[in-house]
Amino acid sequence: MSFRKDFIWGAATASYQIEGAAFEDGKGRNVWDDFTHAKGNVFGGHTGDVACDHYHLFKQDVALMKEMGVKNYRFSLSWARILPEGTGAVNQKGIDFYNALIDELVAAGIRPFITLFHWDYPSALQAKGAWTNPESPKWFEAYTEICARAFGDRVKDFITFNEPQCFIGLGYGSGVHAPGYRLPLNATVPMSHHVLVAHGLAVKKLRELVPGVRVGYAPCGDARIPASDSPADIEAARKSYFDVGDDPAGWAFNVSWWSDPAILGCYPEAGLSKLGQYLPDGWEKDMETICQPLDFYAQNIYNGRIVKAADNEYGYEFVDFEPGHPKTAIQWFITPEALYWGPKLLYERYKTPFLISENGMSAHDAVSLDGKVHDPNRQDYMHRYLREYKRAAEDGVDAIGYLAWSLMDNFEWAFGYFDRFGLVYVDYTTQKRTIKDSFYWYKEVMEQNGENL
Ligand code: BGC
Repeated sequence: MSFRKDFIWGAATASYQIEGAAFEDGKGRNVWDDFTHAKGNVFGGHTGDVACDHYHLFKQDVALMKEMGVKNYRFSLSWARILPEGTGAVNQKGIDFYNALIDELVAAGIRPFITLFHWDYPSALQAKGAWTNPESPKWFEAYTEICARAFGDRVKDFITFNEPQCFIGLGYGSGVHAPGYRLPLNATVPMSHHVLVAHGLAVKKLRELVPGVRVGYAPCGDARIPASDSPADIEAARKSYFDVGDDPAGWAFNVSWWSDPAILGCYPEAGLSKLGQYLPDGWEKDMETICQPLDFYAQNIYNGRIVKAADNEYGYEFVDFEPGHPKTAIQWFITPEALYWGPKLLYERYKTPFLISENGMSAHDAVSLDGKVHDPNRQDYMHRYLREYKRAAEDGVDAIGYLAWSLMDNFEWAFGYFDRFGLVYVDYTTQKRTIKDSFYWYKEVMEQNGENL
């Protein structure tokens, strides 16, 4: 047994993390332009002003993908590059850039997956209250319409939102991401509702305008790994995975608040009892809009937490990792089983074809004396995770694909350029790209549809 024959193998990036050209060709400002230029927000004062200069080097990057056998590429659109004010007048040069990129991909035989929003929110809309504004879903719908009309002839795969947990939770809850606010629940909970309405409106709009479209959604959440195979621990993991908290800085980091409405048509009871009081008046009437059929449910999964049954008010507790448990460069625990239990529990609840839209490892890679980048730890990470994902597929999860994060090293948000997630090394001074060893290994995995894992 292995992955299905039409399994989607590929790699992913996001606009602000790679494009650069932050103030060129009519692009409007976004909250990350503002946040990175304010002191003390990002490691080393780094910005995405230039990043990987993909805006100018995209042809070379597509050629690299072709060479490495990448058949599917997920990238995001910069809303403010297309609509400098977030709404209203379109910046034709922004549309031209994405058209050229898409044409290049299609000519290289690479299937484009567009993420409509991966965190770089237009500053002009931030000034109008961003997702607190009841009009905000309509702004997103209008932006979606422009993208659907401009790119929908060649692009059939769309993802509405990337990780609302992060752009709401980190952007407006804990404040460690742009725009850096720490707002109370009566602000962030309504925001979450507006994001969900925006998601539903966007799915409807894409279906209306793009014949043959396949639409997905890419939230995240640390997977849960039962401490043992006992039914009690598995149930504890399930309960914990779909639980919802109410800490103003951290509540957004849950799965069910963001996914149940979109797929099951209701907020989870665990969340409603704590957060329902903060939802905007009349929220119930939006549930039909929010719950639109999806072609696939995507998740970005990097790690998991171990859970066991407990005799406490929650019915579960977390188990600490043993001292010295392996970690990545940004201090994330390495937990391959997250790619078994995550997809398994998510598929069990949502029953929607499942895509890993991001998974990968940060490391402190360097170019060696031989001019190559040897990253056996990343290869080992991917190997272990992919084996678990394959086990989930063999166990009945309708696993449709895996997109590695990331195609190339890039701007890692609040960490700046501190660590590297790429399969391709980027020298940020010269913009020289060097394919890492892990990419040569991944090429074979893709070619053999994971038979060699
Ligand atoms: C995000 C990416 C990010 C990656 C590694 C995900 O949370 O979607 O933009 O670079 O994880 O942190």
